[in-house]
Amino acid sequence: MLNSNEVREKFLDFFKSKGHEIVPSAPMVVKNDPTLMFNNSGMAPFKDLFLGNAPIKFPRVADTQKCLRVSGKHNDLEEVGVDTYHHTMFEMLGNWSFGDYFKKEAITWAWELLTDVYKIDKSRLYVTVFEGSAEDGLGFDQEAYDLWKQFVPEERILRGNKKDNFWEMGDMGPCGPCTEIHYDGRSDADIAKIPGASRVNNDDPQVIEIWNNVFMEFERKADGSLIKLPKQHVDTGMGFERLVRVLQGKQSNYDTDVFKPVIDKLEELSGHRYKPENENDHKKQLIINIAMRVIADHIRAISFSIADGQLPSNTGAGYVIRRILRRAIRYGYQSLNLKEPFMFRLVPVLANQLGHAFPELLSQKLLIEKVIREEESSFFRTLEK
Ligand code: SER
Repeated sequence: MLNSNEVREKFLDFFKSKGHEIVPSAPMVVKNDPTLMFNNSGMAPFKDLFLGNAPIKFPRVADTQKCLRVSGKHNDLEEVGVDTYHHTMFEMLGNWSFGDYFKKEAITWAWELLTDVYKIDKSRLYVTVFEGSAEDGLGFDQEAYDLWKQFVPEERILRGNKKDNFWEMGDMGPCGPCTEIHYDGRSDADIAKIPGASRVNNDDPQVIEIWNNVFMEFERKADGSLIKLPKQHVDTGMGFERLVRVLQGKQSNYDTDVFKPVIDKLEELSGHRYKPENENDHKKQLIINIAMRVIADHIRAISFSIADGQLPSNTGAGYVIRRILRRAIRYGYQSLNLKEPFMFRLVPVLANQLGHAFPELLSQKLLIEKVIREEESSFFRTLEK
């Protein structure tokens, strides 16, 4: 079984072999863009390349981008911890074509990577294509459909509406139709009872989107209209934590080696166990499990933000981070009976786990610990009152 670091490396190596330049993640915190506080997707740092406002240095790029979805158009905060596959901070693996290749290569390579390299069971994969939108004057994406038909039986190629299959960065900016790849992780018995096609995009925790391939062709203007971009581009985003979960055969992102070390540490600190809920203790255990997932998720958002130079504060991005930190502390306090600072103790575990891919966690470890510990101490005093 691949560990999470190997999963990331294989992605980058694959696209390197297809002529892509591997670039580091941009910081998670965005400076100088009034429309965005945090990078909410892999494409956000490349916005100006898509719009034709910045020169294209490498027409093919691949990376893993640190993303945070806690505000604006893409906000997953309320799902985090309650379910097992949304996160505040997550890594988005991406391959990019800036005016170079388009649908044919993107779809062919996505399939090759998932099924030849990662060896995911083809019969468990579903894809969606854009059905078109009358209000935007856009038709069905026949080209993507025909490309998928070479690899996927038609009953597993589904049509999706604008909400699911037309990706937009925000109210304005680059956008385009997309094709998503979903994985059905249910048991054979459940699959026999209910076919996966009806579970796709239906909030089934075991049938999840793993990869989105966007064909950037338009710019949404402030008045809601679409204009054609000067060139056609490809923006893909694969949820790293979800991919690892699929490849490690787990039913929850939190059972993978991305989160497990932090949860182990939380068990040690709290004396509670993270384990499946059963009939007798369902409610009690669920409260513990949700709290542990929230904390294991939030410590990443907070640590990466501080490593990127954004400290908790009373305004703007700093306030978002402070609220995430306090949310985690409250879960620890109320559900795990943690009555003194504990979040800072998770930082070394995280740095150890992710420091190879993101060296800033190692170089800034002491600062991250110190900032979190101070925030915690003052918030705990407030809670005690
Ligand atoms: N921009 C798309 C997304 O965030 C694909 O990278 O899903």
